Amino acid sequence: MLQIQENVSLINFNTFGVEASAHYFVEINHKEELAELFMDPQWKQTPMLVLGGGSNMLLLNDFAGLVIRINIRGIEHRISHTDIHVEAGAGEVWNDLVNFCIARGYAGLENLSLIPGSVGASPIQNIGAYGVELKDVFQSCEAFEIATCQFKTFTKADCKFDYRESVFKSELKGQYIIVSVKFLLSLVPNFNLKYGVIEQELTARGITKPTLKDVSQVVSHIRVSKLPDPSTIGNAGSFFKNPVISTAEFSPIHQQHPEVVNYPAGDGQVKLAAGWLIEQCGWKGKVVGNTGTWKNQALVLVNHGGATGEEVYSFSSQIIDSVYTKFGVTLQREVNIIS
Ligand code: FAD
Ligand code: EPU
Repeated sequence: MLQIQENVSLINFNTFGVEASAHYFVEINHKEELAELFMDPQWKQTPMLVLGGGSNMLLLNDFAGLVIRINIRGIEHRISHTDIHVEAGAGEVWNDLVNFCIARGYAGLENLSLIPGSVGASPIQNIGAYGVELKDVFQSCEAFEIATCQFKTFTKADCKFDYRESVFKSELKGQYIIVSVKFLLSLVPNFNLKYGVIEQELTARGITKPTLKDVSQVVSHIRVSKLPDPSTIGNAGSFFKNPVISTAEFSPIHQQHPEVVNYPAGDGQVKLAAGWLIEQCGWKGKVVGNTGTWKNQALVLVNHGGATGEEVYSFSSQIIDSVYTKFGVTLQREVNIIS
């Protein structure tokens, strides 16, 4: 029997650690409970927030509707020659799945080590790190359609993955709840060590033939050195996306700032490091009231204690304004703003 609770504090359900309450709150442990929930027409008309680990959202106010916390567990795996088929429940912790695979020699997720949050949220923004994105290992996902109470399978093509984007964040926003994700991994590692300092760090450790575990440990080490741990300082990772602009837009910026950190993004486009842009505007490590940017990574906004969602949001607007004034580039928020 589903337990719908009322006036539940969300402070421990969002990694920013902002105080906000949910008018109604329900935890889903089995996918069948979604059909049970939405059989009551009341919930189809109530504003809804699907919640995984709360590590990519900023709650601006108390949530006046129903918060649906996804806790569907289970990991199944099957070997076919060198291919590994893994299916995980949406409520599994992402990094537990990564560790599960690494322990068994299943390659593909190692560069995505230590990303917070749930398996079910991983397709929403096509999580990515250190040169790998979810789409590189994704096979399909199963999602519950709220309007029809039916389950539907989404292939990789259906998901329209892009940099920090998917169909679930755009045209189908709010219409589906992901209940499980299938991955295609391999027994034969195809290491991607080119990004950032992975190779450098492996060399420093004297590792010439890395294992999956080595790569995972190095990625985790680099992440810990740059990113604040949400259990001690509230944050949701990168607050903004790295802006992707045309070469025509890039040219005058490059002329004025030859040191601008940039990467080719295909189709005549250039990706800029938002952290660099923000740092150049003097924001790195700045503390403003209860909020600020992280001292080692200006792209991460933090809650120094007691910050409200509105406070963080208004600080992020200041950053957007100053980056626009200095570089003519408009930063887009990566974190989901919940009002
Ligand atoms: P939540 O914050 O709970 O939800 C995020 C969004 O997805 C919301 O809109 C929510 O409604 C929706 N959603 C959640 N679950 C479901 C579901 N089952 N069905 C439908 N919709 C759902 N991200 C990266 O891509 N790369 C990184 O390197 C990275 N590093 C991070 C480092 C730190 C320290 C932190 C705090 C965050 C980082 N993130 C990173 C962001 C975050 O970890 C990911 O976006 C993650 O996928 C969010 O998972 P979650 O379960 O916490 O999602
Ligand atoms: N930089 C600065 N100052 C800063 C931060 C960065 O100058 O304060 C410059 C440096 O030159 C650095 C470059 O920006 O080399 C890139 O920085 P980093 O390697 O830390 O990566 P990022 O582009 O800032 C992205 C993702 C992260 C992901 C890392 C590693 C986005 C929005 N962010 O950050 O994802 O972990 O790459 O792949 O794409 C997240 O989405 O929450 C997240 C943390």
